[in-house]
This record gives sequence, C-alpha cells and structure tokens, in this order.
Amino acid sequence: MPVETIKWERGAVKLIDQTLLPHKVKFITCRDVRTLWRAIRTLQVRGAPAIGIAGGLGVVLGIKDSRAGTSRKLIQEVKKTAGYLASSRPTAVNLFWALERMEKVAEDNSKRPPYEIKKILLKEALRIIDHDKKSCRAMARRGAGLIRSGDTVLTHCNAGGLATADYGTALGVLFEAKKQGKKIKVYADETRPLLQGARLTAWELMHEGIDTTVICDNMAASVMASGKIDKIFVGADRIALNGDAANKIGTYSLAVLAKYHRIPFYMVAPVSSFDLRLKSGKNIPIEERPADEVRTVLGKQVTPKKAKVYNPAFDVTPGELVTAFVTERGIFRPPFARSLRKLT
Ligand code: MRU
Repeated sequence: MPVETIKWERGAVKLIDQTLLPHKVKFITCRDVRTLWRAIRTLQVRGAPAIGIAGGLGVVLGIKDSRAGTSRKLIQEVKKTAGYLASSRPTAVNLFWALERMEKVAEDNSKRPPYEIKKILLKEALRIIDHDKKSCRAMARRGAGLIRSGDTVLTHCNAGGLATADYGTALGVLFEAKKQGKKIKVYADETRPLLQGARLTAWELMHEGIDTTVICDNMAASVMASGKIDKIFVGADRIALNGDAANKIGTYSLAVLAKYHRIPFYMVAPVSSFDLRLKSGKNIPIEERPADEVRTVLGKQVTPKKAKVYNPAFDVTPGELVTAFVTERGIFRPPFARSLRKLT
C-alpha cells in the first residue's frame, strides 16, 4: 500500500486526506474529536474498516484530556463520545462495532481508576488497528485462491489500503494474487459521485504495478458483454445474515449484470462488516449525502445550480446475487442464512 491511512501519533490521530488524492498527498492531524468527526463525515477518512479504526481512536481523543474524578464519570464520557461519533456516518457497521468494543472495554474495567481506563482504551484502539491488519492479510490469502493467472477483474469504489489499516479487502486479494506471480488485469469503475474508483483505486493499483483500466460506471455492462471480465471483487459496508450487503452505490447494478453475464461476484469483508443481528438488508440504514456531490464533479458545477438531486451513498445487493463472501475466517457460500451463522 502506498501510504499508512490512519494512525495514532503523539496524542493525536494522523490520517491521509483522501479527498485530495491522487493529486495531493497531505496528512491531517485530528487533535480533538470534533475534527475527527468532520474527517469521517467529509470522507477525508473513508472505507468501512478505516471508519471503524477512526471510531476507536476517536473515543480515545474524546476522553484523553478528561478530568473525570471517578471511573463512573469517565465511562459516561466514553459513552457520550461514542454516541457523538456514531452520528458521523450510518451505513458501515464497522464504526458501531468499534464503538461498542470501546464502550465494553471501559465498562469491563470500571473498577480501575480513570487514568488506567484511559490507557486501556488507547490499547484497545491500537488493538483494533492490529486486528484489521491481520484480517486484511488473511482475507487476501484466502481470496487470492479464487484468482487464476490471466484473469481480468472488475472492482468498484475503493476497497484498498486506504479503506483499511493495511492491504485492503477486495484490493488486498488482487495485491496478493500479484505477489503470488499471477498475471491479472483490473478494470476500476470510476464510482460517481465522489470518484473513489478513479482517484483512489487506480492510484493504489498502479502503485502496485497492476495493469489498471478505469471505466465510467455506465460502461460496466458493455465491458462485461464484450467478455473482458472474468470475476468481480468488491468490498462491503454492512452484511446481513441472509447475505444482503450494503456497499457503495452502484454495486447492486454490477451484481445484477454479473448474474446476467454469468460472472462470479465476490464480496470481500472482515467479520467486523457483518451485522448478523439483521436478518436481511431491509433495515440497513442507507446514508444520503449532500446534493452538491452530484451537482458537481471535483468541485465544478455540472448541473443547473438548483437541479433536484437524489444522492444515496450505498445500495444493498441481495444475497442471492453474491457468489461468496471472502472473510478472514473463511469463504462463505450460499445458502448464507446457514453458512454465515458460523460467524455469530
Ligand atoms: O463512502 P465510502 O467511500 O466510505 O464507501 C466505501 C465503500 O463503499 C467500500 O467499498 C466499502 O467500505 C468496503 S472497503 C473495505
């Protein structure tokens, strides 16, 4: 991966500003939880696992200077901070997974003095990063087994190192396949409105020396029809028990097209992206983002100024369109309502 996406450094959260990539590589330092909340909301840090990591570190930021004299008070502040961070983006379950984990560790240590709880929380947030690194490598190894030398893969949005602490999810599989000596080519959807595919995925793949072709989202059908695509690999933001999975808007249409063209459709995601309390995708909250993201391209107005806009950031791919989920704990195939139970 070209850069370290997010880390804890000298009492602050340092992250690469993904809104400026690939033209500008700039790191920002979040010294308080409000700045971090804004970084999540504005997609300076983005991608399901990276948002989870930001959430964990955000809790530490929120309480590190707390003057709470009792652990009960400190734990109240932890919960308040977690609640605040939870309001930044609704869809990727990794954020809520990380926040719950931080709250639980605080509660489990409620008998200790506040200064110790603070240390334990920092340790836990760093553990979340470490856990993500290991998951990325494990997913990559398992997923690479699905790729044959000579394959051409289509991907959507950015499910690479920038979306995680390490290798990425879907892109990690491709990096690993390349490392194993397999010859692969990748088509990357540009991914309107914010162009994560064109800006971030192309940048990451090209950095690794992978043969990369960027296409506009509306070209995917004809590229598949022309027989150019062997497999599709994408990430996921929240997966329900029946395999319904939210991912970047446009993923659902790719899955429908894949079915029609008989192309295997794989979703690569760590266990922290599964929300198995949800029986189906019906109740996955879908984030709606500001209209100007659609009215503009890279800051330049492309529609009439007040054009009415609909801007859902994610869609839900029905589980029946998914060939398999690649996770750090194995590859899961249909029927998902049965196979995914192993993850509960
Ligand atoms: O809005 P974003 O850029 O945060 O959306 C990201 C995606 O949809 C990714 O595909 C998903 O988080 C999986 S990344 C490992």
